[in-house]
Amino acid sequence: MIDDPMIATGSQLSHVYPRGSRVNERGHLEVGGCDALELAREFGTPVYVVAEDDLRARAREFIDALGAQHRDYDVLFASKAFPCTAVYRVLADEGLGCDVASGGELALALRAGCDPRRIYLHGNAKSTAELREALEAGVGQIVLDSLHDCERLAAIAAELDRRQEVLIRVTPGVSGDTHRAISTGQADSKFGFSFDDAREAIERLAGSSHLTLVGVHAHIGSQLFELEPFRAAVHAVAELGEFPVYNLGGGLGAPYTAAQHPPAVADYVETIVTAVHEVLGADKRLLLEPGRALVANSTVTLYAVETVKRNVSTWVAVDGGMSDNLRPMLYGAAYEALIADRPLAVGEERCQIAGKHCESGDVLARDVLLPAPAPGDVLATPATGAYGYALANNYNCVPRPPVVFCREGSARLVVRRETYQDLAARDVLE
Ligand SMILES: Cc1ncc(COP(=O)(O)O)c(C=O)c1O
Repeated sequence: MIDDPMIATGSQLSHVYPRGSRVNERGHLEVGGCDALELAREFGTPVYVVAEDDLRARAREFIDALGAQHRDYDVLFASKAFPCTAVYRVLADEGLGCDVASGGELALALRAGCDPRRIYLHGNAKSTAELREALEAGVGQIVLDSLHDCERLAAIAAELDRRQEVLIRVTPGVSGDTHRAISTGQADSKFGFSFDDAREAIERLAGSSHLTLVGVHAHIGSQLFELEPFRAAVHAVAELGEFPVYNLGGGLGAPYTAAQHPPAVADYVETIVTAVHEVLGADKRLLLEPGRALVANSTVTLYAVETVKRNVSTWVAVDGGMSDNLRPMLYGAAYEALIADRPLAVGEERCQIAGKHCESGDVLARDVLLPAPAPGDVLATPATGAYGYALANNYNCVPRPPVVFCREGSARLVVRRETYQDLAARDVLE
């Protein structure tokens, strides 16, 4: 366990902000030792600001918790949550393997230097090309998602004369309390094998000359705050028989608002390990694939307030929106906001933080109390590290923001801002 450094002495920033964040001597928000106003000035807005030490600490927390309770394990970064070269590198440096869900994520992970033997390929609709790329790269395990996946991979492995370790992903019929768009463990899911199909796959794979079935995978959903479904999933997969490897996915929730308190990583790991020891045995290789719980709270997005409009509501419109954080529009996800040069000022006005896009639904945070917001203010929304950069897009031809890593007061640009040239880079002109 590491200390609870989320709230710096003397500040009232909640646990939603990156660890080590504080209000500095100038009264400004500080992330990774860097003043948010200076970051906005230097790198422009919007900008994703990542506290590198927060990222590293959370990676170590998973490794330490699992390492303390189980002998044979690996922690994999579910890279869909923040597929950025610098993030792959930092998490690999902390000792994590990684899970990829497409040829693109695989290419990026390899380019970042991730060890292919510790890369796991997922996907409910993997293409022949993606399977071939994974085989050629020598990825550790491919997670099969359907009988078609089995057939296709077996044929490519035969053609390349390779033997590949595989897991089968099952839908254990267990789902947690989360938005239906990110619930995956229920029987009626596009992901994974039903138990009947899984039994057939196990039989087929037993006779395969090119695929070696080593175990089972289950991921029941994302942003889960209860531990019971994780325990239930372990009990459910035990019905399929005994295997050397169990990959129990990700799913642990992250706090987006101060009122949210997900279980501690150590408690989550203990629940899973206890269930594994009870029903599968202590000798199994156990893999976990956290995404959100690793990266969500590492990051704060800084925006500039462009306009403030008062009609029925107070609309504080910023220079980003659904192009850099789609989650509020996809899932109604709640976010907080503060103004970076007066983060502790008591807000009196209930504000709707609107984006700049041509949709009325483009609202980043609702009913946020802000202290006299005005154009030119730098506004910060915390907990944007997971599925923010990952889901970013170019709606309204808005260039995607840069990513800046901050550590001990130094800031380094790890992804530059997109340019108008980038927007046209794929055009093929006569
Ligand atoms: C197979 C798999 N593993 C891991 C994850 C990561 O989930 P989370 O970000 O909730 O930890 C996902 C998310 O969709 C997933 O599909």
